[in-house]
Amino acid sequence: MATLKLLSFLILQIFCILEVANSQGVELGFYKKTCPNVEAIVKQTTAHYISRAPTLAAPLLRMHFHDCFVRGCDGSVLLNSTKGNQAEKDAIPNQSLRGFQVIDAAKSALEKECPGIVSCSDILALAARDAVELINGPTWAVPLGRRDGRVSILLDALKNLPTPFDNFTTLKTTFGSLGLNVKDLVVLSGGHTIGMSHCFSFSSRLYNFTGKGDMDPNMDQNYIGRLKIKCKSGDVTTIVEMDPGSFKSFDTDYYTMVSKRRGLFASDAALLTDSQTKAYVLSQVNPYGSTFFKDFGESMIKMGKIGVLTGKAGEIRKHCAFRN
Ligand code: HEM
Repeated sequence: MATLKLLSFLILQIFCILEVANSQGVELGFYKKTCPNVEAIVKQTTAHYISRAPTLAAPLLRMHFHDCFVRGCDGSVLLNSTKGNQAEKDAIPNQSLRGFQVIDAAKSALEKECPGIVSCSDILALAARDAVELINGPTWAVPLGRRDGRVSILLDALKNLPTPFDNFTTLKTTFGSLGLNVKDLVVLSGGHTIGMSHCFSFSSRLYNFTGKGDMDPNMDQNYIGRLKIKCKSGDVTTIVEMDPGSFKSFDTDYYTMVSKRRGLFASDAALLTDSQTKAYVLSQVNPYGSTFFKDFGESMIKMGKIGVLTGKAGEIRKHCAFRN
């Protein structure tokens, strides 16, 4: 009898261990039985918007990055502020995010097909992947099963997002604290091959680098001249293309720009100050020998696993801008 009890206790223990193991990570095909069309629905919705407005691809990619770096990939960047609490969305770096309507549209299509099943954080991870592919970039398989967080705090975004003024050491620390290495840093920075930036994100490099009215010596002087025409000192509204000429197309141009000291942010230029990241930048300049597309998919999968809520943690929101 005692042996039988011990045996059933041990079996129970094994089941508990398996349960914990199962609920710890995201996985491919998570919705295979519960919502088999999830990927098709998100792709169709994303394509619908991006075919009309290709510039939406960039902010969708950036939104997933900003989601993952603050409290993990839990959809907290999508939440609206509530009375007495300003959300991540309200933080300055997030004020230029766009494309929330794409996530909302995919969510409402999914709520019709399989109500209460697919998390907003998974929708965002898929939309970011689809957005990149739709503008000629790589694609990758997105492990799913994230659940949505209930907390979103403005200050968390300010504390955890890298700034365009960061040097290599700071960037390495920020990425490292989230389990991303130096290669992930240089690869994911390649996301700046698409999109736009406000002048204020880099104008100190043009006008007041060390507080003495000087320019950043690490930026190509001709390029500074051209940027100064678009961005006057103190300009807070103008936006410029980060990869002029092909900002709507996902390609390897970012590395060419950085190698020519034409990266827009100090954080882009910082990639030339470390031997490993510099070697990567230079190795990607020839598009034929480039490994960037493959690398980007791998690092995005890694980024998409930061601090995920799975199993019974968090919730599946009914509407992506509101906790249930
Ligand atoms: C390495 C640290 C990073 C810093 C400091 C940084 C900073 C910035 C800044 C300041 C902007 C311009 C915002 C504005 O002025 O409107 C921007 C834009 C952008 N970033 Fe990053 N970023 C970083 C990493 C990433 C990563 C990892 C991704 C994605 C994988 C990414 C994707 C983008 C995209 C696509 C845009 C253009 C957004 C648009 O067109 O609306 N960035 N980033």
